[in-house]
Order: sequence, then C-alpha cells, then structure tokens
Amino acid sequence: MNQAAPGSAPSTAALDVRVANHPMIAHKLTIMRDKATVSAVFRQRLREISQYLAYEATRDLPVEDKQIDTPLGPMTGSQIAGRKLVLVSILRAGNGLLDGFLDILPDARVGFVGLARNEETLKAEEYYFKIPNKIEQRRVLVVDPMLATGGSASDAISHLKKAGAVNLQFCCLVAAPEGVERLNRDHPDVPILTAALDERLNDLGYIVPGLGDAGDRIYGTQDA
Ligand code: PRP
Ligand code: URA
Repeated sequence: MNQAAPGSAPSTAALDVRVANHPMIAHKLTIMRDKATVSAVFRQRLREISQYLAYEATRDLPVEDKQIDTPLGPMTGSQIAGRKLVLVSILRAGNGLLDGFLDILPDARVGFVGLARNEETLKAEEYYFKIPNKIEQRRVLVVDPMLATGGSASDAISHLKKAGAVNLQFCCLVAAPEGVERLNRDHPDVPILTAALDERLNDLGYIVPGLGDAGDRIYGTQDA
C-alpha cells in the first residue's frame, strides 16, 4: 500500500466507480469479512465472487457474427471479437481473484505485477513484472482484492501503460473512497469495478470495515 491519508474520506458522490450490487455477492462478502472465517472458506468465497465480477467486467466486450448450424438449421450467432484479453494479477493477493476470473475467461492470457507494501513507508515496491505480448492490442483487466490508498493499483497501471497497454480496467473486491479518488486522479481513463465501496481508511492504511489483510487471509500467513 502507498501513503495512507487518514482523516475524512472523500465524498462518494464525486467518485467514478461501478459497484457490482448483487445479493449473492453481498452474502458471500459478508462471510469473507467475518474474522472467524478460515482461509479455505475465504478463498472459495473469493473465487465465487470473482466469477460474478468477471461477468460484470466483460459486459461490454465487442462481439462479431458467427455463422453456425444448429441441429435444426443455420443461424447467426455471436462470438467475442478481437485478441484474447489479458488478466493481470497484482501479487500476491491478486491471485485470489485470478482463479475465479479464469473460471469464466479460460482463454485469457495472464500477466503478473509483483508489488508489496513497505510497511514503514507505506509505498508499493515492485519485485516482479511479466506480461503477455501485443499488450497494446488487448483489453487488460487488472485484478487485486483491495483498493486501499490506491498506490499499488496506480503503480501497477503506470507500469502496464509504460509497457504499451492502452485499454485497461481495474477490478477489486473492496475499495476505499481514498483509493478510488487516487485512481480516478492518476488514471482517469481506467474504469473501476468493485464488489463493495467501504467507508474509509484507518490510520494504518487499512480499509474500514474491510476484511483485514487480504493476502494473509487468502494464504493463512498470520495465525489468529
Ligand atoms: C495489499 C492488496 C493490494 C494493496 C492495496 O497487498 O492486495 O495490493 O495491499 O493497498 P494500497 O491500495 O494502499 O496500495 P499487500 O501490499 O499487502 O501485498 P500482498 O498482496 O503480498 O499481501
Ligand atoms: N491491503 C489489504 O489487504 N487490506 C486492507 O485493508 C488494505 C490494504
């Protein structure tokens, strides 16, 4: 995470963000937020919510006609047009979203940006970068469960743009108004899709009410 700015959160009215409102998402996310939920259940619910998000994120994909024959005769169907899209996971917690996205988009290419927050400076430091070729011709969905200060997402997107990506979208599970504001400011061309928009950041840069440290909860790094 990058520099937390504790205090009053920005007004949500001014934010450019799409919240995927759905009773099943709300139900599963509540299970994930509960501190009593163990990693195995946390991971599974995250995978299921990611599948809903993958549908939402690809709602506007371009399609083209495809002529086929059903058992009863010819028809004009449709298929996704253009190059295969790219999913970019911000390591490591992004991998928790990636699995569900790949369930729905099995032909997608996959890239990784390794970013970890320096807990002293609260800045994201890059340790890995590997993305598919022809990135400039592909739709790129960047996935990470948490958008807190927005530093990690903003840095990852900057690296991807430097590598040639022009058609980007950011998808997360829980966003803080501060992170949305930062991403709107740094990358106004990048739409944001989230399963929930929470209240604010605390003075450690964690989302409130949030769900805690997503990476730790996915991978069970910290014992309760
Ligand atoms: C978490 C999360 C985001 C980042 C969000 O990762 O998965 O990448 O924090 O915070 P920000 O919006 O303030 O940058 P973390 O840095 O804890 O690394 P991890 O995925 O390895 O757990
Ligand atoms: N990263 C997390 O994993 N959780 C938060 O609340 C903020 C950043």
